[in-house]
Amino acid sequence: MEKITALITGATSGIGAAYAERFAKEGYNLILTGRRAAILNGRAEQIHQHYGVIVDTVLVELSNEAGIDELIQRIGNRPLDVLVNNAGFGASRLLYQQDLDIQLAMVAVHVSAPVKLIHAVLPGMVARKKGIIINISSESALLPFPKNCIYSGTKAFVKTFSEGLHLDLMGTGVQVQVVCPGLTRTDFHEKMGMEKSRQRNRGMLKWMIPEEVVDISLRDLRKNKVVCIPGNHTKMLVKMLGLLPRNSYYRFVHKFTGKKFSQSA
Ligand SMILES: NC(=O)c1ccc[n+]([C@@H]2O[C@H](COP(=O)([O-])OP(=O)(O)OC[C@H]3O[C@@H](n4cnc5c(N)ncnc54)[C@H](OP(=O)(O)O)[C@@H]3O)[C@@H](O)[C@H]2O)c1
Repeated sequence: MEKITALITGATSGIGAAYAERFAKEGYNLILTGRRAAILNGRAEQIHQHYGVIVDTVLVELSNEAGIDELIQRIGNRPLDVLVNNAGFGASRLLYQQDLDIQLAMVAVHVSAPVKLIHAVLPGMVARKKGIIINISSESALLPFPKNCIYSGTKAFVKTFSEGLHLDLMGTGVQVQVVCPGLTRTDFHEKMGMEKSRQRNRGMLKWMIPEEVVDISLRDLRKNKVVCIPGNHTKMLVKMLGLLPRNSYYRFVHKFTGKKFSQSA
């Protein structure tokens, strides 16, 4: 059987881990990246035992050039069928009140790493006339929120970049998808200090699980949908708020987020 390989960045937990499971189930060998060694290696072993596929792990920091280059070196000439640019993190602070290094690290992880990885793997995919690139953006790309300007900005880059890339690759056999999830129960929010008990549905704000996000992404991929917004509630929110004149949107979001996001919070 032909060996097929998927590289998934940020597969330690959450959405990346769910992609890893799904691609392993479909028979892909995996290259998984992350930083929490024990969790990532444990997951790799579990997937290998369960699905019989080869799972390599690369422990790598993607916020600096050296880390990204190391990953590209580790891939070497190995042909990749799927690349999921998923690694990412949030930082809910005002730009001028947060360490600039953290904000620039976010730009590197969300923007530089995917661009460099895609640049490295595309020649092979185009030559083989097949490949899948999935980039994880966010609903924040479409609906910017207070205390998230770098996060929203980098995720907006991911969305527009992916659509441009899709246009460039039409007819080559390489498929591009950008996924814009809404609130999803992963380690993401806990890492920002939000306890799991606070991750409750509230009106239009509903939490999904990573497996649902991945199911919808792969279903949309089969339909050749380039922009995937998982969950009808998220689609509805994006549509409704997108209809508002921009100044009304800003006032609405400012009021809605209230004290929690005020400058004195
Ligand atoms: N959860 C949500 O509500 C939500 C909504 C919209 C979009 N997203 C996006 O979904 C993607 C996956 O996040 P998740 O929710 O699944 O969160 P998660 O469970 O925290 O997973 C994030 C993954 O990214 C890796 N990562 C983070 N910073 C990194 C860095 N500097 N260098 C290398 N790897 C790094 C983490 O590695 P380690 O943990 O091993 O350090 C982890 O494997 C992110 O791009 C996020 O922006 C999430």
